[in-house]
Amino acid sequence: MSTTTVGILGGGQLGQMLGLAAIPLGIDCVFYDPSPEAPARTVGRHIAAAWNDLDALARFADMVDVVTFEFENVPTASLAAVAARKPVRPGLRSLEQTCDRIREKEFLRDAGVPVQPFAAVSTEADLAIALATVGTHGVLKTRSLGYDGKGQRVVRGAAELAPAWDALGRSPSIYEAFVPFDREVSVVATRALDGTSVVYPIVENLHTQGILFRSTAPAAVPDALARAAERHARQVLEGLGHVGTLALEMFVADGTLIANEIAPRVHNSGHWTIQGARTSQFENHMRAVAGLPLGDAGAPEPAAMVNLIGGLPPIGEILAIAGATAQFYGKSPRPGRKVGHINIVAPTREMLVQRLADAEHLARQHNQLA
Ligand SMILES: Nc1ncnc2c1ncn2[C@@H]1O[C@H](COP(=O)(O)OP(=O)(O)O)[C@@H](O)[C@H]1O
Ligand SMILES: [Mg+2]
Repeated sequence: MSTTTVGILGGGQLGQMLGLAAIPLGIDCVFYDPSPEAPARTVGRHIAAAWNDLDALARFADMVDVVTFEFENVPTASLAAVAARKPVRPGLRSLEQTCDRIREKEFLRDAGVPVQPFAAVSTEADLAIALATVGTHGVLKTRSLGYDGKGQRVVRGAAELAPAWDALGRSPSIYEAFVPFDREVSVVATRALDGTSVVYPIVENLHTQGILFRSTAPAAVPDALARAAERHARQVLEGLGHVGTLALEMFVADGTLIANEIAPRVHNSGHWTIQGARTSQFENHMRAVAGLPLGDAGAPEPAAMVNLIGGLPPIGEILAIAGATAQFYGKSPRPGRKVGHINIVAPTREMLVQRLADAEHLARQHNQLA
């Protein structure tokens, strides 16, 4: 059998981890990323060309059997150029339904996943309607291209909405109700080409200044809630006809789940699966894209991940923590930039909590947020 070659749009740390997972599967990767410094360049061939370079995209498509992405903001025309030549997995529907926060919320609602009240803000006149439908405590977000809390403003009274919209450059936006959540959770799941799927244990996430800092699996939530989260992940996988890994971010408020957003790709809250699950989210994504059977998403022990943001602790200090592994992405550190992570596993929840405290302390000493 000949080797499968997978083309990956985007060559950041997610691409790097996909490339690493591909090696033992006998899958070759070709990365497309404008940056000559793309972290994934060390684990596969790399085409460094602009997102709108249709000739380079055609060359890229000709080198591979199937295309996937680790970056969801690839321009539509560029994706179409690639899709005309090779299958893209997940399909374009997964991107279309999630690249616009309004369409994403409508998709979730239609798929039977609960969402908070929301309204579109595109014109001055929409502001009053949005306040009337959503209320005066909310979050205004740009409809597209936001990440790590960028392009968002919290609104705490009717008078704050218009200035918040000005601050977002009056971009097409979504105004959604503020959710006074008890915790944030996510579910990572993978769907294969034949429609079978696996769902990883539910994860609890802690954000600092809008950036993920820590993920713990499994989240300490009642079984019924964990089952509901798994059901919602499958509703999303099926509704999109997704092939590959995705993440569904949700809030837990008053003991119920409210979906926040979908990442139609491997996700930061699934990095713990590299050591913590029997098959990582990255390996399962590559299996799905290559048309292979999926691996077990079970996690034998409690596990966690701590992000290294804007700076790296000495590797030796990380590895001195029991149960810890480090992954450095090879990016030059800048405030607010994710440059690596620490994964922790432990035989018991109590031991995980102790080890995690050490890892978090170390990370905080070196992290630099914006
Ligand atoms: N409606 C909301 N209510 C309360 N907190 C929110 C709301 N929307 C976002 N947040 C907070 O901001 C973080 C980032 O928002 P999110 O919608 O996930 O955007 P991003 O694409 O930047 O991850 C969330 O993880 C959560 O902590
Ligand atoms: Mg998010």
